[in-house]
Amino acid sequence: MKILSTLLLTFFLINTSPINCFILPLSLDDIELQKETQLTREKLKAAITFVNSQEEYWHPQWQYQYHTLVNMIKKHNLKRGAEIGVAFGGQSLAILFKTAVEKLYSIDPYYHFSSDMYPDHLNYNQSIFNVLYYLVRKKLEPFGERSQLLRMTSVKAAQLVKEGELDFLYIDGNHEYEYVKLDILSWFDKVRPGGFIVGDDWQAEGVRRAVNEFFKGYVIHRKNRMWWIQKKKKM
Ligand SMILES: C[S@@+](CC[C@H](N)C(=O)[O-])C[C@H]1O[C@@H](n2cnc3c(N)ncnc32)[C@H](O)[C@@H]1O
Repeated sequence: MKILSTLLLTFFLINTSPINCFILPLSLDDIELQKETQLTREKLKAAITFVNSQEEYWHPQWQYQYHTLVNMIKKHNLKRGAEIGVAFGGQSLAILFKTAVEKLYSIDPYYHFSSDMYPDHLNYNQSIFNVLYYLVRKKLEPFGERSQLLRMTSVKAAQLVKEGELDFLYIDGNHEYEYVKLDILSWFDKVRPGGFIVGDDWQAEGVRRAVNEFFKGYVIHRKNRMWWIQKKKKM
């Protein structure tokens, strides 16, 4: 009975609160954070307050979305992948925590772009991005070699990954047409034949246009806001 209840409790904890185990409320007295961000106390305080407040609702709101990719990875036994656009790290964390993925590249520049380039409410000011990067690095650190957080644009990161190295790619960075197209162009060859290219935000016009254009002749699958294709296998 005791064993059964322990198993049930473990199952419940793993399946309901993977993210919460890793929440680190950031502190203004964190010396490492102060040194790394080099912000005035006032700016650091504002950024920490913002990031801590977002953490409260970020993950539960997006949980249903995280399951789709996690289930796909499990179903097809995918081992190596990359996520373009990491933000608070919820999707990367869910993958690393809930699947047997052996290597995950998590890519995000954590950089404030001009609003012409990146017209999105997630285009935070640079103080917030610096603090957010620190938070996500700390969250992914426990996964050791399985996780590699790359603070750079997707195009730069693509240069570090070998052709055919990945079983899956998840595109969730800048949703403007030109950038989605660039993401697909720079990463298509990194995914092996038979591997999966997945993305978020089908509701965004730029995403739909780039995906439809590039993947003519492919079946484009959809679930909620997500889309994916499976690369053709070699004959
Ligand atoms: C929608 S959020 C990502 C959410 C995350 N995938 C999740 O599910 O939790 C978009 C992120 O893309 C990042 N981003 C913007 N331009 C980028 C680029 N060129 N390459 C990689 N990431 C980019 C932003 O900094 C932002 O954090």
